[in-house]
Amino acid sequence: MRIDLFKMERTQCLYENEVEHNLSESGVLPMRVQELLDGSPDPGWLGAARLKYPASRGSETLRDRIGQFYGGARRDNVMVTNGGSEANYVCFWGLLEQGDRAAVMIPNYLQTRGLARAYGGRADSFRLAERRAAGGARWALDTGSLERAVTRRTRLILVTNPNNPTGAVLTEEEMDAVVRAARRAGAWIVSDEVYRGAEVSGPTSPTFWGRYDKVLVTAGLSKAFGLPGLRTGWIVGPAKTIARLCSYHDYLTLTPTYLSDRFAEIVMEPARREAVLARTRGIIRANLPALEEWIQAQGELLTYIRPVAGAIALIGYRLPIGSAALFDRLRREQSVLVTPGAHFGIGRYIRIGYGYDRDSLRRGLQRIDALLEGLRRGRARRRCAATGP
Ligand SMILES: Cc1ncc(COP(=O)(O)O)c(C=O)c1O
Repeated sequence: MRIDLFKMERTQCLYENEVEHNLSESGVLPMRVQELLDGSPDPGWLGAARLKYPASRGSETLRDRIGQFYGGARRDNVMVTNGGSEANYVCFWGLLEQGDRAAVMIPNYLQTRGLARAYGGRADSFRLAERRAAGGARWALDTGSLERAVTRRTRLILVTNPNNPTGAVLTEEEMDAVVRAARRAGAWIVSDEVYRGAEVSGPTSPTFWGRYDKVLVTAGLSKAFGLPGLRTGWIVGPAKTIARLCSYHDYLTLTPTYLSDRFAEIVMEPARREAVLARTRGIIRANLPALEEWIQAQGELLTYIRPVAGAIALIGYRLPIGSAALFDRLRREQSVLVTPGAHFGIGRYIRIGYGYDRDSLRRGLQRIDALLEGLRRGRARRRCAATGP
């Protein structure tokens, strides 16, 4: 089987430990093991734990608790995976046959577009587009592109909500439009909700769970929960489909890891879950102003729509350089790693992660300043030469 290069992950793997300022992370500063052990009813469990095989779908306690995060979901609706990425993988592998088409939201974390092309053969894009209205600017669903992308041959519609890289959250009306399109085609909705719970302001983002009978929600502890090292993900869906997807997982990693399953039980206990999400939102809300001050200081050069959720901000720029080239120069000349728009299927944008240490965020942004200033002067010189004597 041929696969597309997953450029974002490959470049991040190559360079994230090489640069002085890594602004390519999309989560928040990860929690420490001790923070999870503190307040645990049996703090000695970790030392005494036997590293046996865990239940293949994840423990019943964990599945019950994940179900509670989605209202009416029960343990039979839940399958625990190794990371949100494995959850996406199993869904696409299990749902798509060669010749099937998938409609994929763009911009996006392009794992899902790559999977659609590998397992189905064809990915049709529909878009989030910048809309500026009296109430302010937002990334809105382009319903025309959704209508065009979803045909009778569409087997699944992939949404990432909250979205990576824009931080946008679909409105109720937009979610209804996605459900209508899916219903018309008889297609599945796969909704990657790994950033749900990491809202910059306002209530927890709505889930697709419960809106239509053919919904699979994928998510996990890596982003909104600040625990990427646990590699805990999950799929929530109709019980029969979850049971079928388990037989795909049997060919992959069989089970989650024992320790992650136990830690995830602690994290997903409802009161603890809310405290962990509150920690994430606290970091996001404390750090975003530092990034926004910097954006404002750049004046007309940058365009920006405030993210609704997630520790990521997508920033447009008005300079004659492609995003991959800008990314390369920032890395080589300033030792800063950002993520270029090209890695999300769009043009002149960079994504900046702001969920880690605020001082190092500021230092990284200063390095970006240095390169932008050089590019800006170059542009001004070219303009002078063009209009000169
Ligand atoms: C939208 C989205 N889904 C899934 C993943 C992968 O999650 P995990 O690290 O849990 O495998 C990412 C990682 O950046 C992501 O942005």
